[in-house]
Amino acid sequence: MRTHYCAEVNEEHIGQEITVAGWVASRRDHGGLIFIDLRDKDQVIQLVCDPADNVDAHKIAEDVRDQFVLVATGKMRARGEGLENPKLKTGKVEMVVDKLVIENRSKPMPFELNDEKVNEEIKLKYRYLELRTQKSYDIFKLRSKATIAARNVLDSLDFLEVETPIITKSTPEGARDYLVPSRVHGGEFYALPQSPQLFKQLLMVGGFDRYFQIAKCFRDEDLRADRQPEFTQIDVEMSFCDQEDVITVAEKLINDIFTKCGFDIPATFKRMTHADAMENYGSDKPDMRYDLKMVDVIDIFERCDNEIFSSIAKTPKKNRIKALKVPKGDEIFSKRQMKGFEEYVRKFGASGLGYFQMKEDGLKGPLAKFFTEDDIQAIIERCELEVGDAVFFGAGEKKLVLDYMGRFRIYLAEIMEIIPKDVFEFLWVMDFPMFEVEDGRVKALHHPFTQPKSLDYEDIEEIESIAYDIVLNGTELGGGSIRIHKEEMQAEIFKLLGIGEEEAQDKFGFLLDALKFGAPPHGGFALGLDRLIMLMTGASSIREVIAFPKTQKAQCLLTQAPSPVDQEQLKDLSLRIRQQAPTT
Ligand code: AMO
Repeated sequence: MRTHYCAEVNEEHIGQEITVAGWVASRRDHGGLIFIDLRDKDQVIQLVCDPADNVDAHKIAEDVRDQFVLVATGKMRARGEGLENPKLKTGKVEMVVDKLVIENRSKPMPFELNDEKVNEEIKLKYRYLELRTQKSYDIFKLRSKATIAARNVLDSLDFLEVETPIITKSTPEGARDYLVPSRVHGGEFYALPQSPQLFKQLLMVGGFDRYFQIAKCFRDEDLRADRQPEFTQIDVEMSFCDQEDVITVAEKLINDIFTKCGFDIPATFKRMTHADAMENYGSDKPDMRYDLKMVDVIDIFERCDNEIFSSIAKTPKKNRIKALKVPKGDEIFSKRQMKGFEEYVRKFGASGLGYFQMKEDGLKGPLAKFFTEDDIQAIIERCELEVGDAVFFGAGEKKLVLDYMGRFRIYLAEIMEIIPKDVFEFLWVMDFPMFEVEDGRVKALHHPFTQPKSLDYEDIEEIESIAYDIVLNGTELGGGSIRIHKEEMQAEIFKLLGIGEEEAQDKFGFLLDALKFGAPPHGGFALGLDRLIMLMTGASSIREVIAFPKTQKAQCLLTQAPSPVDQEQLKDLSLRIRQQAPTT
């Protein structure tokens, strides 16, 4: 219908007749002369309807309202001195309309399209209208570019794109499954994949050597700003490889995606062990855009005159005393804020938060009296304190202290506004523990198919795995591991996880079988595509980068899913709904 997209039109077209098509972004009636801003997928052009030029077109323009769909034909002309709009790519020209067709009308918009403050529910109900904004178009253009770049680079590295099933058997990635009842096998269920993990391993047993997939994954878990129940991974697996080979592929992939999308990032990324990340930053995904590193001071506190601290310090294996230095903290924090900080950490289980301030005449604070001059000096040196700095202390059980001090680090960075924008700080977090024990139950930290470095251990939580996560600006972008390719080792890991032989056979028998038929050494990783785009575009929520997202409560407000089904369907599926308690 069109001869040109709006973005293609410029001064070169002055004097030419062209046709454009799109939506009315705005309309102004200047007493006789009607101006229309017509927008197509990504640009606006100004149409002028003058009764002196064309009476019919002007008459139609009188009827036009916002978001009507128009096809306009006319001659391009220069806007004239003082009338140019430097904000628009097409701001030097305008079309004198000769023919105007209203292809469709529109009801008034249910919300102001470019208003960021509009309630999200209304935007999600009319998601297709929000997609009509420039902001959305730019996000999805970048997403498309990134996905195509990923396909191209993996293709160039000889990876084969293979699709794996969507209605399948449960894959344990730590969330609840979405289940699909079977009609043919009444009372039995498929699960939607939490990831293609087991299938990609089977493709390695199948000899495909290098696989990738832009894969849909489904997880029924508590949703957050960076989580959706249905999301996409760039999923990769390769055989006859070690950890370095996998990391090289991941870095090349990430690098190509960013470069093709116009961002400059380093060719290789920094690395940190999981243990260091936890000890220094209290997180397995530390944000490296700012420093604020924790320092261990347990040995100094052991000598202090305060019963509580010194007794915590007596068991340094189980407990931690961590210091967090805040440069120029003295200037920034008033006493009342110090109280606020304490309240913040208490929410995460802290019993309190100690602090010192570095004054001209030494270290001051409620705790100072418990330390000898030498130990005060030791704290100053260990924390590298200068006049004007403040330092906070958390003391107690290791996991608890690392967790709340890690959160406190982020909280401080946010209120101090020291997190730089528009920078990408990548970090590999390596050597994850294989297991964690929660309430006496052993759980796999990555997944149960990850290869442990060794199975000689005293404490099960000390076993390290060949697993790595890629972190970007404090968000887990992806993760992977070298897998177990020997049946005996896989069976042993299931046993340590408390999965009995029968259960292992029932849930993963097909994998254990496959490992008996010459499974090659293999490993891989998966990147969260939605998270990647979210970080690249600076979007504040993952919902912005998914065309039709779900709410925090896993609902699609556009289609009203999930929704009840009729009795007939339930009967077909051999299901009966128990009376639901009314939700309040
Ligand atoms: P993992 O579970 O770490 O690993 O997932 C990989 C990446 O997927 C993204 N992701 C999500 N994105 C949006 N919403 C969610 N609910 C969500 N859950 C995960 C994250 C995460 O880093 N099979 C393994 C990979 C492997 O070992 O190869 C896996 O799925 O960015």
